[in-house]
Amino acid sequence: MDPAVLPILTCPRCHTPHPFADLRLPRCKSCGLEPNRDTPGVLDLIDLEGEPSAPTAEQRFMESDLVARVYERLWRPAFVRMFAGKGAGAAVGGISGELYIHKHSLSLDDRPGPWLDLSCGPGVFVRALAAAAPGQLVVGLDLSRAMLEVAAQRTGGYTNAVLVRADAHALPFADGSFGGVNNAGALHAYDDPELVFREIRRVLRSGGIYVGSTFAEAPSLLGRLAARAAGIRRFEPGELRAWLQRIGFSDFEEVKLGGAFVFRVRRP
Ligand SMILES: C[S@@+](CC[C@H](N)C(=O)[O-])C[C@H]1O[C@@H](n2cnc3c(N)ncnc32)[C@H](O)[C@@H]1O
Repeated sequence: MDPAVLPILTCPRCHTPHPFADLRLPRCKSCGLEPNRDTPGVLDLIDLEGEPSAPTAEQRFMESDLVARVYERLWRPAFVRMFAGKGAGAAVGGISGELYIHKHSLSLDDRPGPWLDLSCGPGVFVRALAAAAPGQLVVGLDLSRAMLEVAAQRTGGYTNAVLVRADAHALPFADGSFGGVNNAGALHAYDDPELVFREIRRVLRSGGIYVGSTFAEAPSLLGRLAARAAGIRRFEPGELRAWLQRIGFSDFEEVKLGGAFVFRVRRP
C-alpha cells in the first residue's frame, strides 16, 4: 500500500487529521482506533461503533461474494450494454469507450492527483487510473467487503493504488485532498446522494474535477423492466446539473451513452 495516503486520511471516529503513523499496524494517535484487519490489502475504516447509513437494496446485493466475483466479467458488461448500448463497451485506443471517456474527462495528463475512485467495486477504474497515472496516488474506496476483496486480488501489482473500506456519505479524508474524483455507476446505490455530493466537493481541492456516470432511461424495454424490477433510481442530466450547481460545482458537461450518461463538473 502506498504510504502517500497517510497524510490525507482522517480518523473515522475522532476525525483527527493524519491519524496513523504507518500502514502496517495503524492505530489512531488520538483516539486509539485500530482499523479492522480482516481483509488483506484493504485499509478498513468502517468504525463499528459509528452509525452506518441505511444500506439500499442494491448495496445488500453488492455485499455478496458471488456477485463480487462475477461482477466485472458478467454483471457489469450486461448492465452497460442494457443501459448504454454496445458503443460504451467498444474499444477506443485499446480501452473500452466508457473507460476512455472517464479518463479523458478527468484530464489525468493536465493535473496532479491524488485520484479517488469512489465506490470502486472490484477495481475496474482503480487499475485503469493507476496505470494511466504512474507515480500518483490512486485511492479506491468502497463499502462492500466482498467487492474490495476482489479488488485487492486484482490490483496487487499497482504500487500506487490503495484500497479503503469506508462509506461514501462520510469520507475519511481531509478537505481538499484530491485533484479528481471518479464515481462510475454508483449514484443509484446511495441512501443520500446529496450528502455524497457534499462529501465529494469537500475532499476535492479548488479546481478539482468530479466525473461520474449514471442511468437516465434504458433504451430497450428489457432494460427498463430490469431497472424497475431492481428499483434502480434514475437521474436526468438536467436534474443533476441543477443539483450539483446548487451544492457549489460548476461547468457541468455530459456525454450521453444510450440510456446512461457520463458527467463532469469542477469545484471552483
Ligand atoms: C454498480 S457498482 C459500480 C462499481 C464500479 N464503480 C464500476 O463502475 O465497476 C456500485 C458500487 O457502489 C458501492 N457502494 C454502494 N453504496 C456505497 C456507499 N455508501 N459507500 C461506498 N460505496 C458504496 C457498492 O458496494 C458497489 O461496489
